[in-house]
Amino acid sequence: MSIRVIAIDGPAASGKSSTAAAVARRLGWAHLDSGALYRAITLAALDNVRDPLKDDLTVAADERREAWSPQRLVALAEDLPVRLVLVGDAFRPEVAGVDVENAIRSPRVTARVSEIAAIPEVRHWVNVQQREAVMTHPQGVVVDGRDIGTVVFPDAPLKVFLTATPDERARRRLAQRGDRVDPAELQRESDALGARDLADATRRVAPLRSAADAVLLDTTQLSMEEQVARVVTLARQRFPH
Ligand code: CDP
Repeated sequence: MSIRVIAIDGPAASGKSSTAAAVARRLGWAHLDSGALYRAITLAALDNVRDPLKDDLTVAADERREAWSPQRLVALAEDLPVRLVLVGDAFRPEVAGVDVENAIRSPRVTARVSEIAAIPEVRHWVNVQQREAVMTHPQGVVVDGRDIGTVVFPDAPLKVFLTATPDERARRRLAQRGDRVDPAELQRESDALGARDLADATRRVAPLRSAADAVLLDTTQLSMEEQVARVVTLARQRFPH
């Protein structure tokens, strides 16, 4: 039997998470936002481990290098713990038993998450959590991220790669935060998204890219309802039961 996973990948603010959540709801499946786990580890590191960027130079070089070491980060994630908890139809991120769904969206986490997500040991740990979550769910899981179709679930029967122009993505992200959409803000947000996409697409491990067998969906001109409907139609074809 094939695994019951729908993989939705794409660049920052392409609408992956909102689409994945809506598709999961329509199918009676669960939603797993893999970015939330990377964000939760980043939050845990910022709150619990000396930040290598902020260290004053009186601290010994060895200790500074240790600060965000892969071993330290994975041990932190295990010990606190950082984990995913199924609440209703969504896997929500928790740190030390506290739901962090809102805290992980703060700019200080967003600014550092790609750095943490580029560490192979961290990615391995996150991938184990994702596979365990999928194994425990009886219906199926819609997973969104950057490497779901290429690395985490290469055997997913349905893979979708969502894109939209950088301007449209910046506009959506500002609107989502309730911020003003003036040209200067738009430019700033577009630059920030572009920098994160570049970091994600050019890293050595599991870079952001579309799987060869993914369905490409450019959402620039689509409403949320339309893009959800397209993925649900594909899902009903690939998962008839
Ligand atoms: O929602 P947004 O587009 O801002 O990003 P996210 O899905 O919350 O992911 C935050 C960051 O985590 C990304 O910029 C990537 O650096 C990393 N990430 C990743 O490397 N692999 C994934 N499967 C998901 C996220």
